[in-house]
Amino acid sequence: MQKVTAAITAVGGYVPETVLTNKDLEKLVDTSDEWITTRTGIKERHILREPGKATSDMAVRAILPMLEKKGISPEEIDVILVGTITGDYIFPACANIIADKIGAKNAWGFDIAAACSGFLYALETGSRFIQSGSKKVLVCGFDKMSSIIDYTDRNTCIIFGDGGGCVLLEPNTDGYGVRDSILKMDGSGREFLYQPAGGSMSPPTMETVTNRQHYVYQEGKTVFKFAVTNMADVSYDIMDRNGLNADSVDWLIAHQANLRIIDATAERMGLDKEKVLVNIDRYGNTTAGTLPLLMYDFEKKFKKGDNLILSTFGGGFTWGSIYIKWAYDPS
Ligand code: UT7
Repeated sequence: MQKVTAAITAVGGYVPETVLTNKDLEKLVDTSDEWITTRTGIKERHILREPGKATSDMAVRAILPMLEKKGISPEEIDVILVGTITGDYIFPACANIIADKIGAKNAWGFDIAAACSGFLYALETGSRFIQSGSKKVLVCGFDKMSSIIDYTDRNTCIIFGDGGGCVLLEPNTDGYGVRDSILKMDGSGREFLYQPAGGSMSPPTMETVTNRQHYVYQEGKTVFKFAVTNMADVSYDIMDRNGLNADSVDWLIAHQANLRIIDATAERMGLDKEKVLVNIDRYGNTTAGTLPLLMYDFEKKFKKGDNLILSTFGGGFTWGSIYIKWAYDPS
């Protein structure tokens, strides 16, 4: 029997309309366009400002056009997996709400809270579902980071934005799709990037609100050091153990947290600049959203048979790489 792999057969993406530029942030905190640009590569990010709209609404706006373009009804979806740390509620899961909003009546699914690695973890999980018999798996990565960002904290508010993307996974027997993965986590890093209150460790009180503990806390320098080393290492390792090299890798789809971390990863892999996809300048760090949003933005560049390396690093700590053989030519 031929081996079944999970091929990406469609890609969707969405960012909200409202744009928050570096110049806008200069009015909120003590920062400058020059500092943000040189330290991170970010020029602007998109923010979901519509009242009553949440992460599931961004997902719906990406998923429905993708399915329509592909000619697939939501009722054909078997499983919905959502990488997110900003689901509409603590529970139920965002996957559950998305299924209701798009009319995926025959699907089941769940959320995966792996911060910036959420999409990568979800992609690996989806790939296993395809290998064990599911026919159509929707893998999403979306975050409404503006809902947990303190716009008086210059350490974090300059980095994050809202948005994300989704892919459809279908079985393939010709070797296209997810070929290999290396996924890691190290919970001892939790104190360097996390949301201090709101969970069972520190449920919401007047005090946690007053102390601004429901926002993202990040010790940037420490996270930076871990990210640079680990994302570069894991990207090199997956390339190496699959017999790939700087020539045979066609595209690096790296988590968009900081241009300097992306450059360090590309350098360790020996990749030419034109193989390194970047949109951090326009969207900032959309957490679980960055990888599918990159694939959505640059989908037209990918040809059938191209070798893609997806790599990420995030809070937890979580990190990893997935090697994909692209399954279709641009339409
Ligand atoms: O996606 C999940 C994983 N997250 C990441 O990968 C993020 C990793 N970390 C980073 O990207 C970087 O550490 C940051 C972009 C967050 C910060 O850049 P940095 O080069 O590490 O700056 P720093 O924190 O070492 O701060 C350098 C200086 C400090 O001033 P002094 O002490 O040298 O006088 C900061 O107070 O820059 C100051 N600073 C700022 N200045 C203007 C910190 N934030 C700002 C700011 N604007 N927004």
